[in-house]
Amino acid sequence: MLQFKLVLLGDSSVGKSSIVHRFVKDSFDELRESTIGAAFLSQTIKIKAEEQEEDVVIKFEIWDTAGQERYKSLAPMYYRNANAALVVYDLTQKDSLVKARSWVEELKNKVGDEDLVIFLVGNKLDLCEGEEDLRAVDTSEAKAYAEEQNLLFTEVSAKTGQGVKEVFRSIGEKLYAS
Ligand code: GTP
Ligand code: MG
Repeated sequence: MLQFKLVLLGDSSVGKSSIVHRFVKDSFDELRESTIGAAFLSQTIKIKAEEQEEDVVIKFEIWDTAGQERYKSLAPMYYRNANAALVVYDLTQKDSLVKARSWVEELKNKVGDEDLVIFLVGNKLDLCEGEEDLRAVDTSEAKAYAEEQNLLFTEVSAKTGQGVKEVFRSIGEKLYAS
């Protein structure tokens, strides 16, 4: 079994805890309370690896940080030894992408590119469809930024679960391969 440490970063209320709960417990809470300090959860997945007959078991140790500004100084404790970071923004809040960019910059300055897989994740995709489409950040804009910065990128919904498992699977495969 391989163990990897993950950290979630991003503005308050973008849905970091909701993504982790969808992944770990397969549940969603409309009235989730804002995280205080940070929360720790773990989950294992199996991935198919070439050259191996049996599936590879990967255990993720996940630090879900608090996005509120007053906890910002705690973040380095959680990202320092991380193997991967999910930098989350809210597809319906333009400012949250600005905040995500500043996290990416901080990670690149403090941790370094080669040591860390960074995944840019746009959340609340369920609010970006139908007549009441609340999308405020274009996919193409975030995608271009991610490509320029060499980040993995996707859009998900913690509410419906769309895309959430795939994020962790891609991280597992990428870390396993490296
Ligand atoms: P902090 O802990 O303060 O940093 O916030 P957070 O990033 O952990 O956000 P949290 O998961 O607590 O979610 C904030 C609010 O957004 C909650 O009311 C969630 O129910 C809601 N929410 C989270 N993900 C989604 C989603 O995919 N779709 C919709 N519609 N709402 C979501
Ligand atoms: Mg939270």
